[in-house]
Amino acid sequence: MKRALITGVTGQDGSYLAELLLDKDYEVHGIVRRSSTFNRQRIDHLRSDAATRERFHLHYGDLGDAESLASVLAETKPEEVYNLAAQSHVGISFSQPSYTGDVSGLGAMRLLEAVRRIVPEARFYQASSSELFGKAVETPQRESTPFHPRSPYGVAKLYAFWATVNYREAYGLFTANGILFNHESPRRGENFVTRKITQAVAEIAAGRRDSVALGNLEARRDWGYAGEFVRAMWLMLQRETPEDYVIGTGETHSVREFAQLAFREAGVELVWDGEGEDEVGKDAATGAVRVRVDSEYYRPSEVDLLLSDPSRARDELGWTPEVHFEQLVRMMVRSDLAAVGVVL
Ligand code: NAP
Ligand code: GDD
Repeated sequence: MKRALITGVTGQDGSYLAELLLDKDYEVHGIVRRSSTFNRQRIDHLRSDAATRERFHLHYGDLGDAESLASVLAETKPEEVYNLAAQSHVGISFSQPSYTGDVSGLGAMRLLEAVRRIVPEARFYQASSSELFGKAVETPQRESTPFHPRSPYGVAKLYAFWATVNYREAYGLFTANGILFNHESPRRGENFVTRKITQAVAEIAAGRRDSVALGNLEARRDWGYAGEFVRAMWLMLQRETPEDYVIGTGETHSVREFAQLAFREAGVELVWDGEGEDEVGKDAATGAVRVRVDSEYYRPSEVDLLLSDPSRARDELGWTPEVHFEQLVRMMVRSDLAAVGVVL
């Protein structure tokens, strides 16, 4: 039985990855932070299900605390380590720049150093990000595209990316960066734009609120489904030699398109009126304002356009995404509608 350690196991990706590895008969260890209220909703089913609970173990630790990382590695001796923990919100990283640097940047270095000392044979996956491309110098973005991060989050992830490469080159560790483009799901955190929209669509349909306030409607992202992106992480650690891979769908859509489609899924056709901060999206049938623009959600520097070229992952890992944009939006809207008890 293989043993894996996942940091960030309570997050969106951590929960899907834990499911995947347990399904492959791994023993899975996850690092969780202490919090005053439990936040393990995404993994609770794995702790109660008879088929998985014996092979799924949680340990307290924090990427800010090197000793806790070393203790968990010494106790669990994993063969694969997936570093998914991060302060992962780009907008919030402008409010907490050095904390984000500490956790999302230096945290990876702390874990790498503990791996080097305690389990140097272990294979290490780093959750790198398309935010590295930032003010992208070419489109689509591929493994060879130069980086130009646009936020404290992107800068922190740049440090972690190069730390991962450096430990490969300096010490011969098996380390791989997955440069993942945006991936979403019904488990997505509620303050990322996709989930914010689908949750608002559901609450509006349930009559619990009138509208949603968004920032930049023109930003374009390459949005895929988290449930299948985690398989690419695992595939990277099964290779003979470690490499870094771009993972995305090869399609890009704007925030405006996402909102249009999400409301349509709940039977509301949006028409747009006005410009800039005065723009609104109205229900074409009733004239009710459903989307507003609020500059509070603008970022000091924005990533305007992300679009992946995932051909290397297709050719070398055999990984191709199956869930397309429309299916992703539908899946998320339906899940949020079900959560508020709306059946259309
Ligand atoms: P997420 O839902 O925000 O999950 C982040 C996880 O990190 C949570 O389990 C969180 O724990 C944990 N964490 C935060 N700070 C920590 C600390 N100091 N010590 C230990 N754990 C800590 O993020 P995600 O969407 O699953 O993304 C997973 C990883 O991929 C992140 O590194 C993210 O930056 C990266 N990434 C994500 C995407 C994407 O589109 N989703 C794309 C590229 C890269 P709590 O539950 O206690 O908060
Ligand atoms: N969060 C948020 N909230 N974003 C908004 C809003 C809003 O109300 N309105 C517009 N946006 C725009 C943002 O300005 C950005 O251009 C885009 O929607 C996507 O924002 P997020 O969903 O917050 O994701 P992100 O692209 O900044 O970051 C995510 O993807 C990265 C990979 O490219 C996160 O998951 C990162 O951790 C990940 O690395």
